[in-house]
Amino acid sequence: MTVLKILTYGDEILRTPSKEVHKVSAKIHKIVDDLFDTMYSYNNGIGLAAPQIGYNYRIFVLDLAMDNEPPCPIVFINPKIIKKWGAIDSFEGCLSFPDIYTHVRRYESVIIRAKDRKGRLFTLEAKDGSLLSRAIQHEYDHLEGTLFVDHARNRFETDHLLAEKGLPQIDSEYLIEESELEQEIIEKQRNSDKNEDSVSRNPADCC
Ligand code: NI
Repeated sequence: MTVLKILTYGDEILRTPSKEVHKVSAKIHKIVDDLFDTMYSYNNGIGLAAPQIGYNYRIFVLDLAMDNEPPCPIVFINPKIIKKWGAIDSFEGCLSFPDIYTHVRRYESVIIRAKDRKGRLFTLEAKDGSLLSRAIQHEYDHLEGTLFVDHARNRFETDHLLAEKGLPQIDSEYLIEESELEQEIIEKQRNSDKNEDSVSRNPADCC
């Protein structure tokens, strides 16, 4: 069992786009095992991407099972998001940003294709702003060198939170212009029942 150190925001590796995996070799299996061991060492860890433990390979893992449920590990190697639609507000954290949670823009639904641990291709659909849908987008971003704060709905509030934890400010170079998503989220929130909370991630979860 190998629990590795998780790189924190500011480390260049987190901003480096990751390479495709050419062969699901023993070395790749070791990275997958280290990802799970490291992720499970955090009570609130639900996902982890290879760059977060220092490897710029296109690999991430998820386990969204609750504490009272059996583990449900999923491995994504060379993932591709082949379809995405809808817009949603997602309240997220990231293990590379200790104790930072902020509202970001996400697609409501995605279809992803990837290879599993044995190198077999599979397709997964995650819909309706589910935790699975949002976690897939969050982890996929890590492989592109994109971080959740790049999708922040309120840049100034997020900068304030980062400053409080002594982390670097949001970099304009990476900030993503998502005016259509933002518009759709605002409309959805306006139309939704005032008593109904917007879908938000459990603030205890990080990936
Ligand atoms: Ni993350």
